[in-house]
Amino acid sequence: MKKFLIAGNWKMHKTTAEAVSFAEEIAAMKLPNAEDVAVLAPFTQLAELGKAFAGTGIKFGAQNVHFEPSGAFTGEISVPMLKEIGVDYCIVGHSERREYFGETDKTVNLKLKALLEADIKPILCVGESLEVREGKGEQTFVASQLVADFEGIPAALLPNVVIAYEPIWAIGTGKTATPDQAEEMCAFIRGVMGGMYDNKTADEMLILYGGSMKPSNAPELLSKPDINGGLIGGASLKAADLAAIALSANEIK
Ligand code: 13P
Repeated sequence: MKKFLIAGNWKMHKTTAEAVSFAEEIAAMKLPNAEDVAVLAPFTQLAELGKAFAGTGIKFGAQNVHFEPSGAFTGEISVPMLKEIGVDYCIVGHSERREYFGETDKTVNLKLKALLEADIKPILCVGESLEVREGKGEQTFVASQLVADFEGIPAALLPNVVIAYEPIWAIGTGKTATPDQAEEMCAFIRGVMGGMYDNKTADEMLILYGGSMKPSNAPELLSKPDINGGLIGGASLKAADLAAIALSANEIK
């Protein structure tokens, strides 16, 4: 049976009241694969989302975290703060954070380590820009991200890491990577992880595709052998759309 994670990245959308009403709507659908669904929400919504999803199987998490446990870092949120709320997941290294907020492979690596130590599952984002793809450098680029991001992380912790391949040119653009392009890179990522660790560990990792995934294109993307789900932005803002994508995954399972 294929493993899936259908994760919605809400980015900077929704108030807490809107988040709770989304949670109630999707919980009421009683998805058969609710355990495979997660919502990554802004910090202010997390405590209420945790309560709203309690007992539903649906997972939740944050979109960023600081790697230090505490300190003089105005405006930041630490791993113990997330742990207290009980989050399941935390996105690390999203391309928007790399581009607008100075995230580097070094900070990504420190964040991965801090989350794994606290038993929160990181969803690590990697992916190339349009310029890199046009120069046919996408595999070299993504491989270099993986090597730097996983430095010093032992194989035993890999089952807790999710990787999301998000080509920057496909995010929020309506331009999806073709299922073959997405599969090719997800398979490549699995191969790189196999080389860095071992094939068994790599085969069991969840590797997601992200970039303009929606109910209409999800079935084809999700049926590809190396794509274990999606990290979904725009289409995750509506409960009906996120649920439709989850149900597509359930049919393939
Ligand atoms: P869109 O689905 O809106 O393209 O966003 C993808 C993304 O960045 C998810 O993290």
